[in-house]
Amino acid sequence: MKKLADILSLELETAFKAAGYEAKYGKAVLSNRPDLCEYQCNGAMAAAKAYKKAPFMIADDVAEKLKGSRVIREAESVKPGFINIKVDAAFAAEYLNKMSGEECLGYEKTEQPKTIIIDYGGANVAKPLHVGHLRTAIIGESVKRIVRFAGDKVIGDVHLGDWGYQMGLIITELQKRKPELPYFDEAFEGEYPEEPPFTIDELEEIYPTASAYAKEHEDYKEKALHTTYLLQNGHKGCTALWNHIMRVSVADLRKNYKSLNVEFDLWKGESDAQPYIPEMVEYLKNEGYAHYDDGALVIDVKEETDTKEIPPCMILKSDGASLYGTTDLATLIEREKLYRPDEIIYVVDKRQELHFVQVFRSARKAHIVRDETKLQFIGFGTMNGKDGKPFKTREGGVMRLESLISDIEERMYGKIMENRAISEEEARNTAKIVGLSAIKYGDLSNQASKDYVFDVDRFTSAEGNTGPYILYTIVRIKSILNKYKEAKGEPAKGIVKAAQSASEKALMLELAKFNEAIEIAYVEKAPHKICAYVYELANAFNRFYHETKILAEENEERQASFISMLLLTKEVFETCIDMLGFEAPERM
Ligand code: ARG
Repeated sequence: MKKLADILSLELETAFKAAGYEAKYGKAVLSNRPDLCEYQCNGAMAAAKAYKKAPFMIADDVAEKLKGSRVIREAESVKPGFINIKVDAAFAAEYLNKMSGEECLGYEKTEQPKTIIIDYGGANVAKPLHVGHLRTAIIGESVKRIVRFAGDKVIGDVHLGDWGYQMGLIITELQKRKPELPYFDEAFEGEYPEEPPFTIDELEEIYPTASAYAKEHEDYKEKALHTTYLLQNGHKGCTALWNHIMRVSVADLRKNYKSLNVEFDLWKGESDAQPYIPEMVEYLKNEGYAHYDDGALVIDVKEETDTKEIPPCMILKSDGASLYGTTDLATLIEREKLYRPDEIIYVVDKRQELHFVQVFRSARKAHIVRDETKLQFIGFGTMNGKDGKPFKTREGGVMRLESLISDIEERMYGKIMENRAISEEEARNTAKIVGLSAIKYGDLSNQASKDYVFDVDRFTSAEGNTGPYILYTIVRIKSILNKYKEAKGEPAKGIVKAAQSASEKALMLELAKFNEAIEIAYVEKAPHKICAYVYELANAFNRFYHETKILAEENEERQASFISMLLLTKEVFETCIDMLGFEAPERM
């Protein structure tokens, strides 16, 4: 469906032409002065220069030609030359009725779907998820859903950190604790046990212990580094242990991501890229893209236009070990081979920006991706505590994601129980749903690149620009619809009539902006644009709700129109929050 603003622009273009001016000046934009009008056209100001005429004269001419328009109810020319526009109420109603009958609520999907890989999550195996991993999961999931809604083929890849030094550390610590295990017996010939020699709780305890110990003990650290080397070179026992670590840890990660409503299509990791490295290194050397510098193999990536120093991308250290960038380049080779993506989007902490500049430039220079493949880095800012410093536990330690989520749930549970008497089970369940909305909306309503303050009190409040406020609004609509249904049967879609009050009209126009809001969010890959839209919509609905007796309306036809509009409002809300990655409960 055409966007409402575009339909208005078409009317304006016709009017400019009919008045003897070029059509291109007829462009409708949202009003700067919502108290005066709904949309406005500033084209007469630009036309004034071309036609050497006072802008208000042009605006007058055009407004005259708009008389009788089916779409524009009122076009008023105001000095110095604006055209203030009010949409025809019957037309707006018709627009909404059409929306509710269309697939995707009238949003036009992209005509040529692209294949887009979204690299997000990036959890490190065997290390507990901490709040640093929260933002990539929340933002990446939302971007994925937006892009998918818009019609592209999306592949979400968790890209686990499963190949680094932490693996060597864990294996070293295991050997210290259980030297009798067959994995450490070089002479062992039999089948290794199927049961992992640890639980997830042990695994999570092992990593921090080992990591701290290695910092104090050089020989232990050497051993861990060597073990990492052994693993990366196919050592049998290490590989078998690595498989155990992966299975136990990934099962736990899946559970954690699931509770965040985050779903990946691919569970690949850094280890998957390793087989591509030797051949890639040869290629980079042979084609002259990489060269040795002080024993290390590097790709120069600086460009003349750089305003700051961009160091070369390191491919191999002087001891022959590969690095983070090597893995990312090799992953690009794999992705190109398996999926031929048109675009890859990385949702990663913005402090890794330089790394991605190096990787992207190297990939282009060495033709590891096709020239037309788009590589995009969405760098997000830090989640801070109220003190403005990176979010920590009360004791000052690294906050685990699970604790953060359960804290919020507890808070929501308290609020829900305070308000009404419902069963404990329902309250727990609702607290989960609403708590997730609080966390996700609190994050997504900020532009991703900005740091933000994780403010539990504000995020869980039912007032203001918060997840719970949006959910309360949706639940309110659901409750009205249910009551209507009990009294009068199934509500009907698509029978909205022209608005009779200002708040009703405002809600209608807000609903009509749906496709425009989604398009902006899609083009900019910006979930915060959906939050902003949803918030405006909630405000418009609540204004209408407070000023209107919906269930007590005596005129049946008018009531049915209200209800029909509520059905659409609910659908728009639910579609939007689904793109944000959360849902609404039945009651709150
Ligand atoms: N595992 C990394 C970390 O925790 C994030 C991975 C981001 N993705 C990538 N392709 N490098 O910092």
